[in-house]
Amino acid sequence: MSEETHAPERIGTGHDPPTADGDGGEATSADGDHSRPAPGDTNRPERPQPLPVIGNLHQITRNPLGFFEAARGDDLMPYRVFTDQCYVVSNPEAVQTVLVDDDGAYRKGEMMRGQIGSLLGDGIFLAEGDDWQTQRATMQPAFYRDRVTGYADAMVDSSAELADSWEDGKVVDVATASSDLTISVLADTLLGIEPGSDREVVTRAAEAIAVRYDSRRVGAFLPEWIPSPTNRRYRRALEELRQTIDRIIRDRRRTLEDGGDPGADLLSILVTATADGKMDDETLRDNVVTFLFAGHETTALGLTYALYSLADEPAEQERLREEFEAFGDPVDRPNDAAARDALPATDRVVDETLRLYPPVQSFFREPARPVELLGTQVPAGTVLALSPWTCHRDPRWWDDPEEFRPERWSRDPTRRTGGASKSKSESARPEYAYFPFGGGPRHCIGMRFALLELRLSLATLLSRWRFEPVTETLSFAPSATLQPDGPVRLRVIRP
Ligand code: HEM
Repeated sequence: MSEETHAPERIGTGHDPPTADGDGGEATSADGDHSRPAPGDTNRPERPQPLPVIGNLHQITRNPLGFFEAARGDDLMPYRVFTDQCYVVSNPEAVQTVLVDDDGAYRKGEMMRGQIGSLLGDGIFLAEGDDWQTQRATMQPAFYRDRVTGYADAMVDSSAELADSWEDGKVVDVATASSDLTISVLADTLLGIEPGSDREVVTRAAEAIAVRYDSRRVGAFLPEWIPSPTNRRYRRALEELRQTIDRIIRDRRRTLEDGGDPGADLLSILVTATADGKMDDETLRDNVVTFLFAGHETTALGLTYALYSLADEPAEQERLREEFEAFGDPVDRPNDAAARDALPATDRVVDETLRLYPPVQSFFREPARPVELLGTQVPAGTVLALSPWTCHRDPRWWDDPEEFRPERWSRDPTRRTGGASKSKSESARPEYAYFPFGGGPRHCIGMRFALLELRLSLATLLSRWRFEPVTETLSFAPSATLQPDGPVRLRVIRP
């Protein structure tokens, strides 16, 4: 199988047939009929009603995740943002159609470009067509299995350094700690950014971006040129970040030109691509910004929510610690710990965390031409919101969907995804009821990197510390990702 597989091994089962109630077929009119149930449709939840001019923006900003929850059980829920006609797609088969089976008919689209185009520019995340294909093929080698395994050392070293900075009984904010950890891993492994002030610039920019894109603000849906204080702070932070990145690129280019060892990290691959004429300088910079944000915050959220969930589950923590005792300290054997199926109980915790708290809670596509989806005519340019948050907690596919239950992944150790208990709903679970990393050709290029980092960081932290809850209840400030609304505090105790 090539590195560029369409169905990543950790996403979905690929063989489970959908149940009758998940097969869509609802006759929703493409002009956004928000209230009329389809004939015979008695179970569909009530749809959020739009207001004139702003559409459903008042409901989205009041409670972004609640809005997506309203789409559960409604395979294609129409909504409107100003004049943009949108649907939440919560039928897994339709998700698969959009991302995999008919992916050529869809593009990232104007809404996403309008929202995050100023941040990610022409980098791989938003690029389309041949341009995207060239970028993906250029960068893919940095994410080959062997290359990613080679980052194991840096992942366990940074995690051990973090664990060593804690004291017995101390309360730590695991959200900030995880973010610092994943920035340093990304900087060490893929980008070769030295510790110190450069990393602080990245942190400042990440904070400004999270505020700018906080979905509870109407401003998050308005253009960036509006001179609000948030936008001004965002633009300043981004400018500072770009200047820093330009300097890092100049330094690396000089090393390459002087015949120094460029290494084989992502930054060298990108700088070489500009020298070969495959990428211009601006796209190179856009890609460094893209990887800084796509690659650090997402993984940090995964780690934060895994630790938060485990803090409530002392028995599960104990189970993992037994696994580490049997395996040995990952710090001593990082490459063994990176091997496939090395720490299965830890991986189940990772799978379950990404189900319950998908770091990318939703992302978007637009049909490039008119398409039919679940029997609905969808005009070109309609916004389709694909929402792991909606699908991962849908009771049609998951028993006790709101519960953190790692053992649901343990039925078949060779296929971690796709089913534990053969209950009625879970045995019928379609592949794309679980897609934390997206799917199809544009699935997350950093998936393998992220899964390894989550496994190794959890193993390193949990073998040194027991976690107890301090923050009782999570609340969210969802932006492009599932940010917590404030610190996530846990107490660390020597096991
Ligand atoms: C738990 C951690 C992560 C999660 C949940 C996650 C999730 C996702 C999702 C859902 C997409 C698809 C978006 C779409 O189709 O519109 C995506 C794409 C992407 N991710 Fe990740 N990601 C994670 C970690 C990473 C890491 C560590 C990196 C890089 C080091 C990375 C880099 C990217 C890039 C560059 C893309 C765009 C790929 C393309 O369009 O070809 N991600 N990610």
